[in-house]
Amino acid sequence: MKRVMLATGGGDCPGLNGVIRGFVKAANQHGGWEVLGCYQSFNGILREPTELIPLTPEKVSGIHIRGGTIIGTTNKGGPFAWPVKKYDGTWETVDRSTEMVKKCELLGIDAVVNIGGDGSQRISMGLHEKGLPIVGVPKTIDNDLSATDMTFGFETAVEIATEAADKLMTTAESHNRVLILEVMGRDAGWIALNTAIAGGVHVCLIPEIPYDVNCVNMFIEERIKNGKSFDVIVISEGAKPIDGTVSKLNTSEIGYENIRLSGAADRLAAELKAAGCELDVRVAVLGHIQRGGVPIAFDRILAAQFGVKAFELVNNGDFGKMVSYRYPNIVSVPLAEAVSKMNFVQEDSALIHTARGLGICLGDSSVY
Ligand code: F6P
Repeated sequence: MKRVMLATGGGDCPGLNGVIRGFVKAANQHGGWEVLGCYQSFNGILREPTELIPLTPEKVSGIHIRGGTIIGTTNKGGPFAWPVKKYDGTWETVDRSTEMVKKCELLGIDAVVNIGGDGSQRISMGLHEKGLPIVGVPKTIDNDLSATDMTFGFETAVEIATEAADKLMTTAESHNRVLILEVMGRDAGWIALNTAIAGGVHVCLIPEIPYDVNCVNMFIEERIKNGKSFDVIVISEGAKPIDGTVSKLNTSEIGYENIRLSGAADRLAAELKAAGCELDVRVAVLGHIQRGGVPIAFDRILAAQFGVKAFELVNNGDFGKMVSYRYPNIVSVPLAEAVSKMNFVQEDSALIHTARGLGICLGDSSVY
C-alpha cells in the first residue's frame, strides 16, 4: 500500500472539497493507495504531534457541495517561512522545508498533493526541488494563474458578486444614489470585470487600468443629463487611481504572506465627492461572502476533474507538475511554468472590448 498526503493551502475557495473527493474516489477505484489529509496546509506535518487525517471514501462522501475545506487551510507561514517567537517576544521565520521532506520520508509518504494558489505552488516547486514527489492543483477565486484557463472557485465568486450587483441596482435606482461594490481578486480584475458585464453595471474599476476619478464623475454627470440619476460601480480591491497606489491595511498577523488590500471602495467614495459628484454615495464591501458557501456546478465539475487528474499524475509518478485546465482538456504543466507568470486582464482582451462596447466606464478616457 502506498501513501499520499493531500494539503489545501492559501485562502479557501468553493471547490476544494470537490478536489479532495475526486482524488479519494479515483484512488479508491484504482486501489493500492492510502490517502491522508494534512491539517491546515502543511502545518499538520510540521507540528508535533502531527495532524494527518485519513481520507476514506466514507469521509469524503457528499463533500463536493460544501464550501471551504474539510482539512483546513492557512495563508500564513509554511515550510519555507515558519514563524517562531523569539525570547524578546518578536517573531522571525525559519526554513523548515528540509525537515518537512525528511518527515514525509519517515512517515512513509510516497507522494504529496498541494491544492493552492500561486503562493502554495511556489512552495510546491521549492519542495519538489528538495526531492519531494509533489503534484500541484491550482485554486483561487482570483483566477490569476496563467498556466490554467480557469481555477475553480472563480465562477462561484462571480455568481455571488453578480447577485450582489443585482441587488445594489434596485436600491441605487430607488434612491438616486451611487452604489459602490468592492470585490476581491488581489491584483487581477477578473471578478470585477465579469461581475460588471453579468450585472450590467455602469462603472468597473480594475487594477490593470488605473482610474481617473474625473472620468468617472463625468460619466455619472452624463448619465444624470440623460435622466439616469443612479449608478452601480464595481471596484476591485486592488484598483488604484492614476499615479496612486493600492489601498491597504497594515496587518499584525504573524507570517501573513500577502498585502491586506482594503478600503478601495471607501477611498473612491471620498474621491467622487471631492470631484463634485452630486449624488449620494454608498459603499458595499462583499468581502469573504464571495469565497464561502456552495460551489456552483461549473466549479464542482472543474474540481472533480482536477481531483481525478491529480490522482493520475501521482499514480503515474509524474511529479513536479501542476494540473491545468486547457479547454476542453485537463492537462498538466511543470510547476516552474505554473508559477512563472500571473494572469492579468489585458487591455486588448475580448472582455475589455465587450465592456467598452456595452458602454461600461472603465475609469479611463478610452472609448469603444
Ligand atoms: O486570494 C484569495 C483572496 O480572497 C483575495 O481575493 C483576497 O485579497 C485575499 O484572499 C483575502 O485574504 P484573507 O482571507 O487573508 O483576508
